[in-house]
Amino acid sequence: MYSKEVMDHFMNPRNVGEIPDADGVGVEGNPTCGDVMKLFIKVEDDRIVDAKFQTFGCGAAIAVSSMITEMIKGKPLEEAEAISKEQVAKQLGGLPPQKMHCSNLGADALKKAIEDYRKKAKA
Ligand code: FES
Repeated sequence: MYSKEVMDHFMNPRNVGEIPDADGVGVEGNPTCGDVMKLFIKVEDDRIVDAKFQTFGCGAAIAVSSMITEMIKGKPLEEAEAISKEQVAKQLGGLPPQKMHCSNLGADALKKAIEDYRKKAKA
C-alpha cells in the first residue's frame, strides 16, 4: 500500500535530529491524530542551507518529514515556501488516500519555520 519511496524514507529517514542554533523552528500538530513535527532550518543569504526534523508520528508523517528536508536543502526561501503538501506526496510516489492528511505536517511546519526565521531576522 506504500510506495517504495515512502518505505525507504520511513526505514532510513534523512536529517533526523535538531539544529541547536537553528535560524527558524516550526512546530505543527495534526489535529486528526495528535502527531507532531518539529522542523529546524538554517538560513544563509535567503537560502536554506540545512534542515533537520523530529517527528512523533506515523510512518507516512516520518517519510513526509524526511522528504521535505531533502527537498528544501539548498533552496531559496521563496521556492521552499511554495512547496505544497501535494508536491511532497508526489515526490514520495504518492500516499494512500487515507494518509494524505499526514502530508500536511511537512508543508505546514516548513511555513512556520520560515515565518519564525523572518520574525527573528527582523528583530
Ligand atoms: Fe498522524 Fe499520519 S496518522 S500524521
